[in-house]
Amino acid sequence: MDPISDLRRAIAAHDHTARTFVTLSYAQSLDGSIALHPEAPFAISGAESLRLTHQLRAEHDAVLVGIGTVLADDPALTVRLAAGKSPRPIVLDSSLTIPETARIFDHPQPPIIVTSEDAPIRRVKKFVARDIPILPLSANAHGISLPELLAALPEMGIRSVMVEGGARVLASFLREKLADWALITIAPYFVGGLHAIPEPPLLSVPASAEISDFPKLNEWQSRTFGQDLVVWGTVI
Ligand SMILES: NC(=O)c1ccc[n+]([C@@H]2O[C@H](COP(=O)([O-])OP(=O)(O)OC[C@H]3O[C@@H](n4cnc5c(N)ncnc54)[C@H](OP(=O)(O)O)[C@@H]3O)[C@@H](O)[C@H]2O)c1
Repeated sequence: MDPISDLRRAIAAHDHTARTFVTLSYAQSLDGSIALHPEAPFAISGAESLRLTHQLRAEHDAVLVGIGTVLADDPALTVRLAAGKSPRPIVLDSSLTIPETARIFDHPQPPIIVTSEDAPIRRVKKFVARDIPILPLSANAHGISLPELLAALPEMGIRSVMVEGGARVLASFLREKLADWALITIAPYFVGGLHAIPEPPLLSVPASAEISDFPKLNEWQSRTFGQDLVVWGTVI
């Protein structure tokens, strides 16, 4: 049971002509919390599962987070705890509020800032002046259009993307059925913080909905890494 081999098989079997392959990966507590407070960093994974996350990053062409995660955690999004190349960082940021000092601007690969077509022109110009790649796309009620993004990425040489969060971004990929594979680290703590799928409910379904109406990890596998339980599989 090796998640990396399973992931490689899933990426190889994917129809890359349609859109970029999407992996969801995050760490949660036993009660489903991915953070204690939405605006502050909070380490959940143990050392062994964190190393696995870095190995997973190295298997992808890009790593994607929402602006909420950049503001809360200021992640470097590099591969440091495993061998391999750091995937290209992508940030979903409709209004271009990412701070100029964000650590991802020190990444070895130039970050792609995905913004909405309505982003303030004054901020767009600031990024263009700094030679930072901006990708303007249309937006819907939940944010930037993910189907448009995934259709655009192959032309940029990005065939696979690892979505690391945060909560609203994970919910969007699941809601729009755009996740192909997922690996979730479960740490043995009760936190009562920000949940991986925030309110309101993921799907608008009637009260009579059944569990089988929701996204599922198909034929999932599990293994412990240190004190954490890691589960993975294809999302259907
Ligand atoms: N435990 C873990 O594995 C893990 C991993 C990552 C993050 N986190 C935690 O997650 C928290 C941040 O989560 P969050 O929900 O506040 O922020 P987030 O999901 O990182 O970012 C959400 C923001 O991204 C932008 N966005 C653009 N297009 C979007 C789309 N299609 N769908 C969703 N969002 C889109 C929106 O802001 P605009 O409208 O301004 O564009 C939205 O408010 C932090 O506490 C962080 O520590 C935990």
